[in-house]
Amino acid sequence: MKTMSFMAMKPFCRILIHRRSSAFFCFPSPKCHPTSFTSDLPNFRLNFDHNRKFHSYSSRLLGFRCVIDRTQKTICAPNSSWGQSRVFSSTCNIDGAGRWVYATACVSNVRNYSTSVETRVNDKNFERIYVQGGMNAKPLVVERIDKDENIGRVEESRVEVDGENLNFKDLNGAEALSVGKEESEIEREAWKLLRDSIVTYCGSPVGTVAANDPGDKQPLNYDQVFIRDFVPSALAFLLRGEGEIVRNFLLHTLQLQSWEKTVDCYSPGQGLMPASFKVRTVPLDENKSEEVLDPDFGESAIGRVAPVDSGLWWIILLRAYGKITGDYALQERVDVQTGIKLILNLCLSDGFDMFPSLLVTDGSCMIDRRMGIHGHPLEIQALFYSALRCSREMLPVDEGSKNLVRAINNRLSALSFHIREYYWVDMKKINEIYRYKTEEYSTEATNKFNIYPEQIPLWLMDWIPDKGGYLIGNLQPAHMDFRFFTLGNLWSIVSSLGTPKQNQAILNLIEAKWDDLVGHMPLKICYPALEYEEWRIITGSDPKNSPWSYHNGGSWPTLLWQFTLACIKMGRPELARKAVDSAEKRLQVDHWPEYYDTRNGKFIGKQSRLYQTWTIAGFLTSKMLLENPEMASLLFWEEDYELLEICVCALSKSGRKKCSRGAAKSQILV
Ligand code: GLC
Repeated sequence: MKTMSFMAMKPFCRILIHRRSSAFFCFPSPKCHPTSFTSDLPNFRLNFDHNRKFHSYSSRLLGFRCVIDRTQKTICAPNSSWGQSRVFSSTCNIDGAGRWVYATACVSNVRNYSTSVETRVNDKNFERIYVQGGMNAKPLVVERIDKDENIGRVEESRVEVDGENLNFKDLNGAEALSVGKEESEIEREAWKLLRDSIVTYCGSPVGTVAANDPGDKQPLNYDQVFIRDFVPSALAFLLRGEGEIVRNFLLHTLQLQSWEKTVDCYSPGQGLMPASFKVRTVPLDENKSEEVLDPDFGESAIGRVAPVDSGLWWIILLRAYGKITGDYALQERVDVQTGIKLILNLCLSDGFDMFPSLLVTDGSCMIDRRMGIHGHPLEIQALFYSALRCSREMLPVDEGSKNLVRAINNRLSALSFHIREYYWVDMKKINEIYRYKTEEYSTEATNKFNIYPEQIPLWLMDWIPDKGGYLIGNLQPAHMDFRFFTLGNLWSIVSSLGTPKQNQAILNLIEAKWDDLVGHMPLKICYPALEYEEWRIITGSDPKNSPWSYHNGGSWPTLLWQFTLACIKMGRPELARKAVDSAEKRLQVDHWPEYYDTRNGKFIGKQSRLYQTWTIAGFLTSKMLLENPEMASLLFWEEDYELLEICVCALSKSGRKKCSRGAAKSQILV
């Protein structure tokens, strides 16, 4: 199943249509005519004998629902509805002769038919926007994913093999990356380990396992492909000119997005991407077995945490794939465009929110455990902002999507204003908060969130340097979480969520507080750790998150690649080089741990996995970016004055600011 050579020959695969359950596909209900599906999709063969076997597996494994639900309408949709269908789920079989047989189940897009759409549509509603897009879309022919002959062609046209060198050419004709240079012994080992972590499905690479620790007796879900963990692996492969695994990953996870998912009796939103997935081999009769993709949307995850960041990372990776390979055809596909819209639909739907930031539950991102980061954590906001910027680039501006694009622009402006204005702290701002008046009732209040100055923690007063500042971890009514969260701050630099001055100031702070934030191993996931009563109350006495361990102030080498990207963007690669050099001294010797413990990151983490893939991939990606800084520019964003203008103009309507692009430039805060 896994650890096959990445460049392995593709086995023969055939596509079949599966019904997922008789309720789901309305078969053998007399109202349904499954044979007529074949005439709509002549390229696919039905194999009902095979379907019977398919039904013998556990329904959970295949992501089925055993109850008749809103999708039933979809099941009974007329043939014409298949024009709107998306690739839904797939399995592949290994027949007696050891060949792979690929099976794709296809259902109509639930949203086009569900009553919830029909009854909730209004002009502001993104479901409407989505449905319009869906109806205008060209009929989708369900495609084979990794067996698509075009894939080979796309890549062939861009990859040049020159002796040992493998180069991508992007569409602009720029040389993407050469990997012909002499690799160090550490890099060679890292590449071998990264390749060993590859997971294949139907004979094709689709991702990398989270950890490949041979000594781990209880891998839990570390033997799965995590969406967020795969991002640095994907970048390492892309930067090396190997796009196939990334393309497969994007398309297979897209299928999983549409999976019917339930947590007990509740179904999370349709656009949700799983936190992780596993390729399982399921035995069939007569010496046959079948591979199935088994996603985890949080229903098995420890604490049942919601993988909010997965969809955001998926969009970010999709854009990066296009930028680095030049294969923009992937993001233009109807099913991929629909996938983007479904994710945005979830993020942009109206709720009770008062802020433009995304409201989430605890543990919904890299910190996937209770750590007091519910509400509006910075990491999610930075990823949300990036995903919106990516989507804005990838969605065509046409009748079908113009409302969505307008909504994206408005949200981007409002979100950056909100974060820049209210999350930012430096010496001056902390002093302002220290002198805040409270209980102000008016739209003009200075202390809008009613922050009591007593909330400023004592450590912060001593810690904040004269030069530099950062974005706080979270903001809610009467609550500022002053902890420094590294990923959120780094990704704010990368995406330009922060102003150019703020972005420089964050790096100034990291430099000034090097011993605390980098120490013996880059980089602290957050600073400082929760201790004593705070640890007891906020983590719920979580022994894995004891002070200065794991998510609670542990040091995570995977964060190196984001740091490197941020440093290159801000013209300070020497800072990244210093961090990479110190990591390089230990990572291989220590067997590539997941995280380190103690204040300065001196010890390998108590429960840390070894041979953690995103540690390895983060290291390789950092090295490659430092060697080819021009590639980094494909992965970050500069300040966007059009967005600033929207914000300044919105404020001017409320009489607060002058409206113009010039005014926008001069309004860059700080
Ligand atoms: C831990 C991390 C999470 C990561 C997972 C797999 O749960 O907190 O971010 O995705 O391990 O490596």
